[in-house]
Amino acid sequence: MQQDQAYSLRQLSKSLADPVRSSRVVTVASGKGGVGKSNFALNFALSLIELGQKVVLVDLDLGMANIDILMGITPRSNLLEMIQQQKSVWDVVEKGPNGLEFIAGGSGFTKLLQLQEEERSFFFAELEKLHGYADTIIIDTGAGLTLESQQCHLSADEVILITTAEPTAIADAYAVVKILHSQRPSLSFQLVINRVTNPKEGMEVASKFKTAVHSFLNREIKIFGAIPEDSHVLQAVLKQVPFCLAAPKSAASLTLKRLAERFVTGSAEPSENGGIKGFVRKLTKMLNF
Ligand SMILES: Nc1ncnc2c1ncn2[C@@H]1O[C@H](COP(=O)(O)OP(=O)(O)OP(=O)(O)O)[C@@H](O)[C@H]1O
Ligand SMILES: [Mg+2]
Repeated sequence: MQQDQAYSLRQLSKSLADPVRSSRVVTVASGKGGVGKSNFALNFALSLIELGQKVVLVDLDLGMANIDILMGITPRSNLLEMIQQQKSVWDVVEKGPNGLEFIAGGSGFTKLLQLQEEERSFFFAELEKLHGYADTIIIDTGAGLTLESQQCHLSADEVILITTAEPTAIADAYAVVKILHSQRPSLSFQLVINRVTNPKEGMEVASKFKTAVHSFLNREIKIFGAIPEDSHVLQAVLKQVPFCLAAPKSAASLTLKRLAERFVTGSAEPSENGGIKGFVRKLTKMLNF
């Protein structure tokens, strides 16, 4: 990428961040498991940081939280401990590589629906403190839809939906859109096809998906991009180093970089859903229903 383009993207990021950041809340979803959500969430976060954004990554994969493993870090604390021990959210924000900050889930979120009223209020109040702290809050979730993850997606500013080109993964991803759409037709989706053998294949699969969503649900879904199948991803997972850092020139890393640039330039509009405050407000409403 041209130096001046990189510079203007960084400036745009900075201007978006000042004076008060809106903290865009993005959840990462999939129908089928193992399609690459956590690797995407982590490496996308690092790619946004590279562009000058401040990012907090929250691991809300129900009981199977593993973002810390992908970074080779043992978290000191997690969301469940925050609630049980009345810790501040700042006590559970961990430092990752390259200025990344992340919050480990533990098994906290599985219990969200069963929390006592005051525990839940405490949880939300702490989460809300992130308002203005980060430009983007990325929330990794488990595959499919549990009641909690569903409510989380419905409360977000947008959902990045990951699938591979496999028909089974596509069918499950479609089911996710259908269910979430039935509850919040205005919810914004960004589709990512992961592990494609060539860009053409990725775009064809994405267009078919978009057309199906349009014909059956009469709604639009944005195509975010396609990430190539890349052996550097597995190598990085085995090394417990994010692939963007372990192999910055790999095809997967360069694609993530392009997606991050697109995300940042597309974020000039202020978030209509109100970032983390809107997220907490919607989640509170749903859980109190
Ligand atoms: N672009 C890619 N190229 C090659 N392999 C990939 C790619 N993306 C993901 N993988 C492989 O898929 C595995 C699973 O990825 P990941 O853990 O990110 O999926 P997930 O969707 O978060 O899974 P879960 O549903 O269990 O949370 C990785 O360990 C890696 O081996
Ligand atoms: Mg995962």
